[in-house]
Amino acid sequence: MPELFESTPRAIFSIVKRGKKMTTTLQYQSGFGNHFATEAEPAALPQGQNSPQAVAYGLYAEQLSGSSFLALRHENQRTWLYKIRPSVVHSKFSPLPKTLLCSRPFQEIEAPPDQMRWNPVPIPKAKTDFVEGLVTIAGNGDSASLRGSAVHIYAANRSMDDSFFYNADGDLLIVPEKGTLEIATEFGIMSVAPLEICVIPRGIKFQVKLIDDTARGYVCENYGPAFRLPHLGPIGSNGLANPRDFLAPMAAYKNERGSFRLIAKFHGKLWQAEINRNPLDVVAWHGNYYPYKYDLRLFNVINTVSFDHPDPSIFTVLSSPSEYAGLSNVDFVIFPPRWMVADKTFRPPYYHRNCMSEYMGLIEGVYDAKLEGFVPGGGSLHNCMSAHGPDAETFDRATSAELKPHKIDNTMAIMFESSLVYAPTKFAMESGLLQDNYLSCWQDLDSKFEATSTASKKR
Ligand SMILES: [Fe+2]
Repeated sequence: MPELFESTPRAIFSIVKRGKKMTTTLQYQSGFGNHFATEAEPAALPQGQNSPQAVAYGLYAEQLSGSSFLALRHENQRTWLYKIRPSVVHSKFSPLPKTLLCSRPFQEIEAPPDQMRWNPVPIPKAKTDFVEGLVTIAGNGDSASLRGSAVHIYAANRSMDDSFFYNADGDLLIVPEKGTLEIATEFGIMSVAPLEICVIPRGIKFQVKLIDDTARGYVCENYGPAFRLPHLGPIGSNGLANPRDFLAPMAAYKNERGSFRLIAKFHGKLWQAEINRNPLDVVAWHGNYYPYKYDLRLFNVINTVSFDHPDPSIFTVLSSPSEYAGLSNVDFVIFPPRWMVADKTFRPPYYHRNCMSEYMGLIEGVYDAKLEGFVPGGGSLHNCMSAHGPDAETFDRATSAELKPHKIDNTMAIMFESSLVYAPTKFAMESGLLQDNYLSCWQDLDSKFEATSTASKKR
């Protein structure tokens, strides 16, 4: 029996260590975008219909819609929840004081075209949970117009105890860098450790417990359409992030009275309501709108076996589209361990300027374009058309290296890549974490050009 919840696992996919002795075994369902059906009590799910006159066990039926009712069938997302009490039972919401979590409009700072890089956000000294520890680095678009995304960092040192959270503004892609999270949701429990990710779609209530003393990581808040797997084109039907490796929790519930707080992020601000029952009370659910997790180590890397680089789109894990075909609202991209075998090729990432804006983070190791300064928990931002590429030392090393096959190992960099410019927040620019010497990593890239033709000398 799990310590937290009143359901019994039937298949074990992960073990969460809690303290030195206790473990919690968790179970998951496998597949991306599937329609799942799961119940924590026998026959709790209605058969043949969604909303019977009376639900088994005295449960309430409640639909959670993640897309408009008229969305195309392959984009239509909803789940039916069978709850001990409907979600509507709560007190009136009251606004919470402003925190470092920012939202629309992202106008605190005029976004400069400079390349920017940050040191890691420190773990707070005061007791701070996942929601309290969210700080915004940059953002774009507007949750009210269903376009754009925000880049947050969480840094926490305590579990959420009597509080629960849901975000009405966007889906949360959570990328732990430090410390394992045990995320109890309305749909069941997920364990998410560094090198794993999870997505909690908008509206879903959850509570984050820390398995380790501290936790830190990146969050992409996606205001646009739901993340989906990228099209594979000529790659075919296999490769990159394979659908079966995405895991959704099994139904689990808490039947508990008490004094709890429900925190909502709604229209850019935090609100709080009182509730007298644990809101994670879903005894059974079925549908295709649910939280899920993915182990980044399962990403099937595709790359050249001859020469030159394919574009980094080959590293896309998840993609939120925009209203323009082929133009993403925001992509989630990783740079995992992989073999480098390209012949006669400059192997690090090439110098480039991009119409997309790129926020990068690092989970572990070293990124192959930057030997120093880009560290786990830190980040960099190269906005639309801001030039970037390998630092001078990396360039010198790569242009003279013997091109034997070698493996880039023990590394995992991540990127949130948006078609909208990321505006940094006041915190990002003024907290002291911004590295003021970032540009110096390229300043030694001097001209190596030596003209030999008469024509060029005359000019
Ligand atoms: Fe780039």
